[in-house]
Formats: sequence, C-alpha cells, structure tokens
Amino acid sequence: MSNSNRPSRNILITGGAGFIGSNFTHHWCERYPNDRVVVLDALTYAGNAATLADLEIKPEFCLVEGNICDRGLVDTLLRDEAIDTVAHFAAESHVDRSILGPDAFVQTNVIGTFTLLEAFRHYYPTLTNAGKSGLFLHVSTDEVYGSLEPDDPAFSETTPYAPNSPYSASKASSDHFARAYFHTYGLPTIITNCSNNYGPYHFPEKLVPLVCLNILLGKPLPIYGDGLNVRDWLFVRDHCRALDTVIHTGKPGETYNVGGNNEVANIDLVKMLCALMDELAPNLPTRPSESLITYVQDRAGHDRRYAIDATKIKTELGWEPSVTVEEGLRQTVEWYLANESWWKPLLSADYQKYYDRVYQVAH
Ligand code: NAD
Ligand code: DAU
Repeated sequence: MSNSNRPSRNILITGGAGFIGSNFTHHWCERYPNDRVVVLDALTYAGNAATLADLEIKPEFCLVEGNICDRGLVDTLLRDEAIDTVAHFAAESHVDRSILGPDAFVQTNVIGTFTLLEAFRHYYPTLTNAGKSGLFLHVSTDEVYGSLEPDDPAFSETTPYAPNSPYSASKASSDHFARAYFHTYGLPTIITNCSNNYGPYHFPEKLVPLVCLNILLGKPLPIYGDGLNVRDWLFVRDHCRALDTVIHTGKPGETYNVGGNNEVANIDLVKMLCALMDELAPNLPTRPSESLITYVQDRAGHDRRYAIDATKIKTELGWEPSVTVEEGLRQTVEWYLANESWWKPLLSADYQKYYDRVYQVAH
C-alpha cells in the first residue's frame, strides 16, 4: 500500500525516548507524517527527552512522561487519543543491571506489560464497535531462547524458551502474557524477538557505545571473560523497518524473529570499533585504540552465543536487513563523533557510580 492511500493511524509508542524506541519514533514520524504519534515514557536513566526534541514542533506528536504500570494513565491515553496501534518498547533492558537488581525488571517488564495488555483488552471493543482494527506489537528479544553452542542452529520462532538472566526471564514472562492475550481474549498481539541492536542514541552502558566513548575518553575497554561470546548484530534502523513491516503486514497471534545475519565474537567487534576510531578520530591520545583492550571478570551466567534465523519474516513479509555490520558500525562511530552534546550529559555521577560497581573500579 502506498503512503498516500494508507489510512492514518493513532500509535502509542511506549519507551519511545529510549534507544530503539526513539529510532522507531523518528522512523515513524518521517514515514507517516499524518499519523498521531504519542510516546509514553517514564524517562528513567535510559530515557532521554532530548532525543525527541526535534519532533516537539509537530502538532501530530506528543511525549507523555509517565509509567506503563499506571493503569489510569494508560486507560486515559488509549481513550483520549483513540489509539489503534500500540508499539511496546518500554523495558528495563540491560542484563548487567538485572544481575545487580532484578526488581525493576519484574516491575516494568512483567507488571508493566501486563498493565498495558489489560488496558488494551478493556479498550479494544471501543475500536471494534467503531468498525476499526487494532494491533498490540510487543517488542522482545532473542535472549528468551537462551544460549547456543557454536554448532547449534540459529534460534527460530519454534525454539523453546530458556531464559538465563533476570532480564531475559522477565522478557520471556511478558512474551507469554502477550501470547496468552491473543489465545484467550482474541486480542491482536504480535511478538517480535530481535537480536542485538546498535546505532545512534544507544545509552553508553551497552557494549558498542561503551567502547566508542571509552576510546574517546582514553579509558580501558572491558571485555568479559575470553571475549569469544557471539552476538548477531543488527543496525537499529533495519530493526525499525522490520517493525514497520510487521505492523502493516504481520499476522496477529504470530511471532517473528528479527536478526542481522551478522554473527561476530565480542573481541572481533571491539577490534573493528578500534580500527574505525583510529581512522575517523586520528588525533586521540591513546593509539592504537586496541591497546586499551582489557579482559575483565566475566558476566554472571553470560550466554555464549545468540543467532537468529530470520527466514520467516523474510519469506512471509519480505523484510531482510540492508546494512552490513561494517557499514553500520562506521555510521555509528561517525554519529558518536558528531554528537558529543547528546552523550556527554549521560555520563552523570549516577552513571559513574553504576559503572564503578559493574567494573569493580577501586577507589
Ligand atoms: P532502552 O533501555 O534504551 O530504553 C527503554 C525505554 O523505556 C527508556 O526510554 C525508559 O525511560 C523507558 N521505560 C523504562 N521503564 C519504563 C516504565 N516503567 N514506564 C515507561 N517507560 C519506561 O531499551 P532499548 O534497547 O531501546 O530496548 C527497547 C525494547 O527492545 C526493550 O523491550 C528490549 O527488551 C527490546 N530489545 C532490545 C534490544 C537491544 O539490542 N537493545 C534487542 C532486542 C530487543
Ligand atoms: O540480544 C538482544 C539483547 O542485546 C537485548 O535484549 C538487550 O536489551 C541488549 O542490552 C543486548 O544484550 P547484551 O547483553 O547482548 O548486550 P551488551 O551490549 O550488554 O553486551 C554485548 C556483549 O558484550 C555481551 O556478550 C557482553 C559483552 N560485554 C558487554 C559490556 C557492557 C563486554 O564484554 N564488556 C562490556 O563492558
């Protein structure tokens, strides 16, 4: 369907001030300028209103600061904004933080998702009675499938769930609720399970931005364990295209795996980032950047390998990634070099406290 004869939507984007949610919000506002776009975000440490500041002038856009666990607020937004599409990104998303303190993960990822589903279930008849259809897209992760051995086949949509961290256990739980609401109540939910994203607006705690910023700051590049854990890297803008495709052509009740076809061992990824930094920021004091690589204590319960089999979304919906990891990392490094004003304020005293705790920096 071309954009011009597509009926406009009223979309609620939860977690739209976070990494993937903000990239998705920008994608949606550019591609569908006539849609009503409401972002609901609690602006936790990972949420950043500045990321969406350029959209504030658009009358079709609004950012609501609030919690997805607040049922009254969610009910009001669904009703007053006549929402037909929920794109649910809001979550506690960092594995290391889930090891230090799992409570917030249960609260937001499990109770928050349940609250949204309950609100949408009670609101949904308003849509159907008005002859409209609706959709609840639940954005999830490949981590729910557990860990692969080197020769195991990649995760498919039928791989049994086997979450290993408090983060992935909370996401698995929320996936089960989204699935159950389709089967029990006929609510049109779709689940996507995606591999590791990277790109602009990524909070500094995650591996890719952490390495870029530590090189700029001349700090050690911490590699957990032997550095041979493998992740399947996907450029965030390709992920946003995949979610757009799923919203428009996905089948309610289905799950779609989304991956980058880019399996890379952590140490190799870090060396690629070092080489890019040496090329694109040649005047940094510590060169070569690889000399900053430091092996540190492994993450507890560290999953060895993730890999996504994205055959279903390719054959059924026609989506596939367009950006190689080499191109995507180059664009990402260029973005961090050009956007110090975005990332510098994030390196707060609170963040430093978290950093020192995870990396056991002595004082
Ligand atoms: P993020 O941590 O960057 O952003 C999360 C956002 O949710 C933040 O803006 C935060 O303020 C908001 N939020 C947190 N708790 C909230 C609450 N209770 N109410 C309202 N808003 C709240 O996360 P991300 O990396 O952008 O991930 C987005 C989604 O995608 C998550 O559900 C995550 O599980 C999933 N996912 C992430 C990746 C990845 O590589 N980053 C891969 C696969 C799936
Ligand atoms: O697979 C999808 C998941 O990808 C998402 O569900 C999560 O929300 C997202 O955070 C990400 O999880 P990871 O744990 O894979 O991402 P992270 O960037 O934290 O780590 C990537 C790999 O790098 C992992 O094997 C751990 C390792 N690592 C990470 C950090 C922060 C290091 O070796 N050193 C580090 O300092």
